[in-house]
Amino acid sequence: MNILLLGSGGRECALAWKIKQSPKTDKLYIAPGNAGTAAIGTNVAIPATDFDAIGKFAVEKHIDMVVVGPEDPLVKGIYDYFVSCEELKNIPVIGPSKEGARLEGSKEFAKGFMMRHNIPTARYESFTQENLEAGYTFLETLKAPYVLKADGLAAGKGVLIINDLQEAKDELKQMLNGMFGNASKTVVIEEFLSGIECSVFVLTDGKDYRILPVAKDYKRIGEGDTGLNTGGMGAVSPVPFADATFMKKVEERIVKPTIEGLKKENITYKGFIFLGLINVQGEPMVIEYNVRMGDPETEVVMLRIQSDLVDQLEGVAQGTLREKELTEDPRAAVTVMLVSGGYPGSYEKGKEITGLDLVTDSIPFHAGTTFKNGKIVTSGGRVIALSSYGATKEEALANSFKSAKAVSFEGKYFRSDIGADL
Ligand code: AMP
Ligand code: GLY
Repeated sequence: MNILLLGSGGRECALAWKIKQSPKTDKLYIAPGNAGTAAIGTNVAIPATDFDAIGKFAVEKHIDMVVVGPEDPLVKGIYDYFVSCEELKNIPVIGPSKEGARLEGSKEFAKGFMMRHNIPTARYESFTQENLEAGYTFLETLKAPYVLKADGLAAGKGVLIINDLQEAKDELKQMLNGMFGNASKTVVIEEFLSGIECSVFVLTDGKDYRILPVAKDYKRIGEGDTGLNTGGMGAVSPVPFADATFMKKVEERIVKPTIEGLKKENITYKGFIFLGLINVQGEPMVIEYNVRMGDPETEVVMLRIQSDLVDQLEGVAQGTLREKELTEDPRAAVTVMLVSGGYPGSYEKGKEITGLDLVTDSIPFHAGTTFKNGKIVTSGGRVIALSSYGATKEEALANSFKSAKAVSFEGKYFRSDIGADL
């Protein structure tokens, strides 16, 4: 099969690595990709949201499957675009329809969906400019901290957690006044849930599903989970608290009703579902849905899938997932993200990266890298995810930290406490 993978981050580098291992893969193209994906397949200079160019390329190169990494193209309707074009409709797109992508594209829609299907989540109400006063009243019924979420996509920045009631009211007003543009024209206010989070990934063909290895990511920039939120500083899999008892609850109370709910609402969904869960005293609750794989979770989940991913994706495309078996690698996998100095604030790009040849016990998944004058240089805040296996999490971490020290670029920073809380 010829496969076109969309995206340019560490997630896509890990997906490319796994896809490339399949005997079913002939040509692998990544649009637009990065310096890491260039060593795995062929990069194509097309943005992941330029549907016309993607469609044209898919026809020209006899693409048999499109795998979508990031949420943007999904929320903008790439699935529907392919289905609606005569020459593209037979090329399967791995991802939900535009309607299905609303599970991530609209927090209000996602919360409504969970209510309709009895899926455990925080109590909430949503507000617009028109009922700002009601928003203040609702805040008064809640206990601190207050959770305010922009309804739409806000580049991962649309959630505010605030301790003070007056401040929460002020922020609500600002959000509705366009603090996140159109994304915060509607704001979901919800009850704060206290517990440890984990990420559960589900692959579905719309009828059946497979639960992928569970991961936990580390979002804050500072050690001990302090400081600003980032795109993710590292991840581990498996997650000790996500044991068989917990996962049984996740499957019965969340995964099954989600798949059934999609069916009942006639929402076409053939792709990955990312359940952002929180463990509240042993009970799983949904913090959010995403309609793609997580980053940096993918950089550990791909290591822990033993089965041929392309075979699984074929099952998704053809509606035969039921016949596919998914086996997990028993080893632990971790990833440690190297980031640019200053990130998630402002940082410099174009720093030469050296020492990649010294990495022997990890798999380097490039996140923000590119080529300049034949050299590999930084091109983003998150630069390279160093993923490793180990018989235990500790062994895997030792490998990743060793690699993290071997790779160099000016301003390099990483968290040396990934996995330490588990
Ligand atoms: P989201 O973009 O929905 O994932 O929210 C970003 C982060 O905010 C989550 O990963 C949680 O750490 C936190 N968060 C969101 N909703 C809640 C909630 N209801 N209670 C506690 N923390 C939350
Ligand atoms: N790691 C969280 C996300 O991909 O949204």
